[in-house]
Amino acid sequence: MERLQNALHRAREKRGEAAESTMRTAKPRSGGGGGGNSAEIAARWEALKPFTPNPRALQQTRVVSYFGKQQATPFDLMRTKVVQQCKAKGWKRLVVTSATPKCGKTTVTANLSFSLARQTDLRIMVIELDLRRPSLAKVLGLKEPHYFAKVLAGEERAEDHLVCHGGNLAFGTNLAAEANSSELLQSIKTRETLQALEEYYKPDLTIFDTAPLLASDDTIGFLEYVDAALLIAAAEQTTIEELDVAESEVSEMTEVMGVVLNKCRYSAGGYGYEYGYGYGYGQY
Ligand SMILES: Nc1ncnc2c1ncn2[C@@H]1O[C@H](COP(=O)(O)OP(=O)(O)OP(=O)(O)O)[C@@H](O)[C@H]1O
Ligand SMILES: [Mg+2]
Repeated sequence: MERLQNALHRAREKRGEAAESTMRTAKPRSGGGGGGNSAEIAARWEALKPFTPNPRALQQTRVVSYFGKQQATPFDLMRTKVVQQCKAKGWKRLVVTSATPKCGKTTVTANLSFSLARQTDLRIMVIELDLRRPSLAKVLGLKEPHYFAKVLAGEERAEDHLVCHGGNLAFGTNLAAEANSSELLQSIKTRETLQALEEYYKPDLTIFDTAPLLASDDTIGFLEYVDAALLIAAAEQTTIEELDVAESEVSEMTEVMGVVLNKCRYSAGGYGYEYGYGYGYGQY
């Protein structure tokens, strides 16, 4: 992890981006408007279709934070860092992405969301935006035909495609891939729909599980909409060069909240998740 941080630090210095980063304002892009008192907002969440995960399915897909206790510790720590940064900077929209496929974006998104939701004063919305190869439903063990892309396109109602766990964790997933994903993600309709959703449900944080950055323009085109991004790197898989390019691309469009090093075989905790937030390469 230290080597990774040092390499990122050097790359960032080389690009001369550190100065630029400190000059950025912390103004969030998320809107804060919308109507409804707290009882009305609570009722909207209660009206969502309930989702009770199958523990065996979650165990199989490595969604260990659902179970709490010791195995959730790495994600609980990550949750605390995320909440602290979001509160300090007023961030409400977070993208989870990676340079290349299969680094663990969806697995980390699911784990982080269950950890966040165990803090019951928070309301968390998780929206799947990897529309080329959606897998969040599978990772969660959701078999119902939900297609959140239809909501983004303005064709169907959000409440028909959202499910809610424990009254404060909503998931918008897709059971199948969507053609024209790039155009949909960059459309004004998608932005308007997400904005309306945010104003109606007023989540404390919306997490977007996305496609790999370097595989298509789907995620790059969406980054300008969010407040920050969490970059997932996979040990023995993601190269420093890939991570550097990804970090550079993300930092041009939004804030880099941190880098999560996933799939560590030799992590101190033994669960294969390590994470670094702003270590040697700038406090984001
Ligand atoms: N910490 C980990 N240790 C071992 N395997 C892991 C870990 N995290 C995720 N995986 C496995 O790696 C594979 C890819 O994970 P996941 O689908 O979460 O990645 P992704 O980045 O979302 O992939 P894609 O780019 O296809 O969306 C899955 O089989 C998952 O179970
Ligand atoms: Mg994924």
